[in-house]
Amino acid sequence: MTILIGQHDVVTGYEGEKKMQANREKEVAQHHDGGFSVPETNSFGHTFRNYDAESARQDGVENFYGTNHINQTYDFVKRMREEYGKLNRVEMSIWECCELLNDVVDESDPDLDEPQIEHLLQTAEAIRRDYPDEDWLHLTGLIHDLGKVLLHWSFGELPQWAVVGDTFPVGCAFDESIVHHKYFKENPDYSNPAYNTRYGVYSERCGLDKVMMSWGHDDYMYLVAKENKTTLPSAALFVIRYHSFYSLHRSGAYRHLMNEEDEANLKWLHIFNKYDLYSKSKVRIDVEKVKPYYLSLIEKYFPAKLKW
Ligand SMILES: [Fe+2]
Ligand SMILES: [Fe+2]
Repeated sequence: MTILIGQHDVVTGYEGEKKMQANREKEVAQHHDGGFSVPETNSFGHTFRNYDAESARQDGVENFYGTNHINQTYDFVKRMREEYGKLNRVEMSIWECCELLNDVVDESDPDLDEPQIEHLLQTAEAIRRDYPDEDWLHLTGLIHDLGKVLLHWSFGELPQWAVVGDTFPVGCAFDESIVHHKYFKENPDYSNPAYNTRYGVYSERCGLDKVMMSWGHDDYMYLVAKENKTTLPSAALFVIRYHSFYSLHRSGAYRHLMNEEDEANLKWLHIFNKYDLYSKSKVRIDVEKVKPYYLSLIEKYFPAKLKW
């Protein structure tokens, strides 16, 4: 079934960054439609779709961020972490989760004629080509979005705004660089003196792992990996938890909460982001062919069954 074409021209550097930023909102619009994304172009430079209703889409994005920014409060995140941190929903392997995500198809997506698992593998395989020795990063590529199972009915079918989109710290002031910052004015934390200062409930260079992030698939997958005692390096957990934290990796905000380990890991997040979200391409992946490699990585870094 596979037609592997030698696509290898990942857009890097400032140009790539610019392109990715431009596509990011479109991705959220796509998420808003059904949870999975197809940006107009990706890091491989492919074009996917043209939006006719540009303004309607823009409304969708604003709406999405409005709901997200108003509802992601410190208390909300605390409750979600407590609830989903119980990991009492299902036991399954990493690969089974990839397949479960496969079932959650965005039918509004006209370009999505391949199973989700191929898209996960496209990210992983693109990283593998460019960083052949970093097997942990290949696996990170495969699993970083598995938290999107929160959209699945068996995980409570959370709304889009509580699963996808940019993430940001709660419990301290919302940085101006966060997309559609204006909506935070309606978030109760915005006017709560306990949460609206530069440090809020945190202290200088306390480390991002002490910081509560807005709830979504990133933090959930981080919890799953950590609580199931993955042996992946801390850089992998960092990538998983902060891959949608755009105000950090694009604007450099919240550095005052980072410790030395965070600083070291940030370098990997920058690398990873060149492949994330925009790796959808017409390059088909032969799932059966690469599966043994990824199963061996899963075996290396995870228990056979994980609690979700
Ligand atoms: Fe993601
Ligand atoms: Fe992703």
